[in-house]
Amino acid sequence: MCELSIGDEEPTHWSEGSTGDPDGRGHNEEPTHRLAVMVRADLSKEPTAVKAMFDGVAARYDVTNGVVSLGLATHWRRATHRAISPVAGERILDIAAGTGTSSVRLAASGAQVVAADFSPGMLEVGRARHRDTRNLKFVEADAMALPCADGEFDAVTISFGLRNVSDPQRALAEFFRVTKPGGRLVVCEFSHPPLAVVRGASRLFNRAVVPALARLTSSNDDAYNYLQESIAAWPVQSALAAWIHSVGYAQVTWRNLNAGIVALHCAQRPTQ
Ligand SMILES: C[S@@+](CC[C@H](N)C(=O)[O-])C[C@H]1O[C@@H](n2cnc3c(N)ncnc32)[C@H](O)[C@@H]1O
Repeated sequence: MCELSIGDEEPTHWSEGSTGDPDGRGHNEEPTHRLAVMVRADLSKEPTAVKAMFDGVAARYDVTNGVVSLGLATHWRRATHRAISPVAGERILDIAAGTGTSSVRLAASGAQVVAADFSPGMLEVGRARHRDTRNLKFVEADAMALPCADGEFDAVTISFGLRNVSDPQRALAEFFRVTKPGGRLVVCEFSHPPLAVVRGASRLFNRAVVPALARLTSSNDDAYNYLQESIAAWPVQSALAAWIHSVGYAQVTWRNLNAGIVALHCAQRPTQ
């Protein structure tokens, strides 16, 4: 049984204010999110830097997200929710869930939702915001090493998270392991518009406008320079589909949202 089960007491090593010291060498005496307000990750996606960056933006994350996406984030979340099609009683893992903005909607369907993330700062905001949602459990966990049993979840989903993981293929293999036979995977991520004119406009927007908008709303606008760099370096839709297929999922499909600014990849774990 997964250590993330809803209703379990939070294991002490996942407690809020953890040191964010994954190698256990004791470098950080204080909670990472209090130390690292201005950290910004680079394309090496070193986990401590990524975690600290999200800790630093956690308090303003959802507001900034709404602003820099010009409100489109709501549309992308709705499309992702429909693709997951949550059913009451199902167990759903929302990994890299951040503050749980997508997870809480999944829980509203009656599913038992685990919102997992490795940023204590994001989790702290999520827990405070959604403390009354009984079938939603926030836990600190790394996408590349999920503390879950094989085949634990009816659905596994990740929104705007996979691009930030240092080894996305390893994370996908973990998602496959914890997906039930017949269960589904939904990945929502920024992508590459097939039309050159949209692609150019989108890159220009990400490079010039997003950091400026983020400056108005975020405690760490430099983190939004990382956003455009990481999108540019992310694989195209067909390559991500190939990764998903390579770890064992079948029926891998994708569809573009807003001309491919975002892509929604869906897949199923074969029943046997
Ligand atoms: C852009 S936010 C997306 C949050 C949320 N899914 C949403 O749609 O608003 C990316 C999240 O991925 C998390 N993350 C990045 N790498 C991770 C990893 N290896 N394991 C768990 N979470 C990770 C970050 O901490 C951050 O909360």
